[in-house]
Amino acid sequence: MKNKGLIIALSVVVAAMVLGAVYTAFTINNRTLSEAARKINAQEIQDNYEKSEVWGKYYPKHWESFNEGSKYETKTKYGGNNKTDKLKVQPYLKILYKGTGYGEEFYEPRSHFYAVQDIGAINPIRTKTGGACLTCKATEVPRLIKTYGDAFYSKPFSEMYKQVKHPIGCSDCHDPKTNDLRISRPALIEAFERQGKDITKATKQEMRSLVCAQCHVTYYFQKDTKKTTFPWDNGLKADEVLAYFEKIKFTEWTHPESQTPMLKARHPDYELFQGSVHQSAGVACADCHMPYIKQGDSKISSHWFTSPVHTMEKSCTQCHREGTEQLKNMVYNIQDQHHEILDIAGNTNVKAINAIKQAAATPGANQKLIEEARQLHRQSQWMWDWVATANGMGFHNRQEAAMFLGKSIDLAHQAIQTAEKARGAAK
Ligand code: HEC
Ligand code: HEC
Ligand code: HEC
Ligand code: HEC
Repeated sequence: MKNKGLIIALSVVVAAMVLGAVYTAFTINNRTLSEAARKINAQEIQDNYEKSEVWGKYYPKHWESFNEGSKYETKTKYGGNNKTDKLKVQPYLKILYKGTGYGEEFYEPRSHFYAVQDIGAINPIRTKTGGACLTCKATEVPRLIKTYGDAFYSKPFSEMYKQVKHPIGCSDCHDPKTNDLRISRPALIEAFERQGKDITKATKQEMRSLVCAQCHVTYYFQKDTKKTTFPWDNGLKADEVLAYFEKIKFTEWTHPESQTPMLKARHPDYELFQGSVHQSAGVACADCHMPYIKQGDSKISSHWFTSPVHTMEKSCTQCHREGTEQLKNMVYNIQDQHHEILDIAGNTNVKAINAIKQAAATPGANQKLIEEARQLHRQSQWMWDWVATANGMGFHNRQEAAMFLGKSIDLAHQAIQTAEKARGAAK
């Protein structure tokens, strides 16, 4: 009798435990289900995915952070949310970029909020390529590329500009359905494919840089179609990209002073970052440029996209023990040194242009040597331009930036010597 009672009691306990386990399993399962269900963005977002303000109704804190960039101008020593005139800061740019729109007008970038407004306001000679100039400016672009196919890139700029309204927004980096990070620009997907890589296999941490690599990279417009293309087939470094252009015999413009067949680099931020101390340590663009911030009672990734000098405490001190003042001095020290060598390389390239011009104007000068000098100048200015157009004034990878500037100075001196030799042959 006593035993039977014990068996019953035990059975009840076991039954209760089994039931409890089943119940817990059921509710956990239910919770994951509803979390997964919650990961589907509202139908309203999916239907209006190009309008960031509609996403903003559901993600008000991200929307508020995104709009931060419109509230005020900021200025750091070499960056910030303002339109600094680069031609005033570095007057030699006018000579180096002569014959291109960059020699007429060239501003520092400001926050994403202004992308459509700013391209609408630039000197029209800079947008004569066509729709291609909008590739990185507006949320409507992926749809326009689908609608017009590759013809989008060469359509008149004004015609395409009428069809864009929303500057770089949520759908450029997020899947309208799941909110996961996604790549919306074909040029990046295709550049990966040509290297035999599948971008859909990227890790979550890699995606925190790759979403930026849709636009913060160097590109060129293909000769006939004007299609925006990333010249990465040989690799992502300045000399590897140069080899790519030599192989396809690409020339962007002819320099009017030296008659050099030139190449043009454009903000290789992602490329220069590769192999840096931070990238090697697994740090992504978003770690510094989109730090976690407190917005009301919750923590979100900042969506202001600005200079991390404004957010040192949030951007750097989770890894660095130095205080923000010291970190800022470290950044400015790197940038000051970089700025100095950048200007030396820029001015040496100006001297190369003048030497070639002078040789070409000398009757009886050796034409073969002049041609050689032009080829050297093509390479030297490319190396300088690669570094000069990269944002961050050297911070992203000071070692590599210094190496390419060193190569640029050496090549420019070779160009000068060769041009002088060509001129000497006339005497
Ligand atoms: C370790 C932190 C860190 C990482 C990682 C990082 N950056 Fe930066 N970035 C900076 C700093 C510091 C500056 C200099 C800001 C200044 O001069 O005010 C900067 C400047 C910039 C600027 C110019 C901002 C301005 O106000 O002029 C852009 C654009 C930029 N970075 C893009 C990127 C991209 C794209 C990546 C990833 C490929 C990246 N950064 C990775 C720290 C970082
Ligand atoms: C769809 C294209 C696009 C994508 C994607 C993109 N950017 Fe930008 N970014 C731009 C353009 C264009 C500007 C310049 C806007 C202007 O000056 O009007 C800019 C400007 C910036 C600036 C300068 C802001 C300032 O205050 O000086 C920073 C910093 C920046 N982007 C960081 C990032 C980071 C980090 C990512 C990835 C998380 C990213 N961007 C993704 C196109 C893009
Ligand atoms: C230039 C790319 C870019 C744009 C534009 C962008 N985001 Fe993000 N967003 C990111 C990145 C990177 C993360 C971090 C994701 C991660 O760590 O997995 C993120 C994270 C988020 C998250 C997850 C929570 C968090 O704070 O980390 C939400 C929600 C979000 N973004 C909403 C938005 C909304 C709404 C917009 C438009 C107003 C927007 N994002 C525009 C790149 C972008
Ligand atoms: C996720 C971690 C992480 C973040 C975030 C981070 N760093 Fe670093 N940083 C590192 C690591 C790791 C190194 C290499 C350390 C070493 O070699 O001692 C490094 C190195 C540096 C160096 C020396 C670089 C050189 O060229 O020698 C500077 C300067 C620096 N960081 C500044 C910053 C600043 C400024 C920020 C914020 C805008 C920042 N870091 C954000 C991890 C980080």
